[in-house]
This record gives sequence, C-alpha cells and structure tokens, in this order.
Amino acid sequence: MKVLIPGSFDPPTNGHIDVINRCSKVFDEVLVGVVVNPSKESLFTTEIREEMLNEILANSNNVQIKTFEGLLVDFAKANKVQAIVKGLRAMTDFDYEFQMAQMNSNLADFETIFIPASPEYGYVSSSMVKEINSYGGDVTKLVPQNVFKRMNDV
Ligand code: PNS
Repeated sequence: MKVLIPGSFDPPTNGHIDVINRCSKVFDEVLVGVVVNPSKESLFTTEIREEMLNEILANSNNVQIKTFEGLLVDFAKANKVQAIVKGLRAMTDFDYEFQMAQMNSNLADFETIFIPASPEYGYVSSSMVKEINSYGGDVTKLVPQNVFKRMNDV
C-alpha cells in the first residue's frame, strides 16, 4: 500500500520524521508531499524543505519526497496513493484534521488514516520551533541536525 503524508514541513521536526519513519515500516511506500503555499509566509522555500527532508530520509528506501501545488487530492490521485496519512499530536489537532479528512473524502473518495504522535513529540510543532529558535531558545532536541544548522545559518 502506498500512502501520502502531506504537510508544510516548515521546518521538518523530529515529530514529522518519527511519523514518516513509523509509516515506512507499516506501509510499502511512503510519499511525503511538501505543499507549495504562496499565501502562507514561510521560513524556508519549498525547495529547501524538500532538500532537508531528502537529507534526513536518504537511507529510507521506500520513502520519496515531492513538492505539490494545488489540491491534495489531485496530487494524491496523480501519484496513485491509496490513502493519506496524518499524524495527530493531541485532541486539539483533531477538529481541523477531521474536517480536512471528511472534505478530502468528499472531494475524491480518499481515505485518511490517523497515526498518533509518539508521546515524546506530542508537543512539538514547526511554529513553536521557529519561535523558540528566533529568541535563542534551544531546539536541538526538537529538529534534525541539518534543520537546526540551516535555521541558524542565516
Ligand atoms: O503541515 P500543515 O500545514 O498542517 O499541512 C496542511 C496541508 C498541506 C495538509 C493542507 O494545507 C493541504 O492539504 N493543502 C493543499 C490544498 C488542499 O487540498 N486544501 C483542501 C484540504 S481539505
């Protein structure tokens, strides 16, 4: 079974990587879709986000990274995935994710599979990582090394 894990990944966190790695053990193929969202201000370009994920997941043979623009379901269809996978950190994620899952099912009959975040990453989010790092707080345990380096290279 081939699944799609979509997201902004701005930047990828250890929580994202944990979900991707766990899915790569459960499913035959994992496609990671990095969304191009021109209306959302981002720290990294889509190309850099894709590059960082490629570096981190270089040894994961059944994981592929691609960027996409437009509707998730169109990207999912074009890449012949059987389902969309989303990581859930807490119940606060649920309302929005549930709504998106129902909308994607309504748009194109796509199933969404939810996977719980590992407890050690339940509180990690890209936006908090960016904020903490911008104030000089320590995020070394929250993101992969190459991400930390790029965040502090500028
Ligand atoms: O990491 P994020 O920002 O929570 O990911 C959100 C993402 C990429 C899954 C969502 O914004 C998305 O699916 N965007 C593509 C446009 C689309 O299909 N929108 C309708 C979703 S119901």
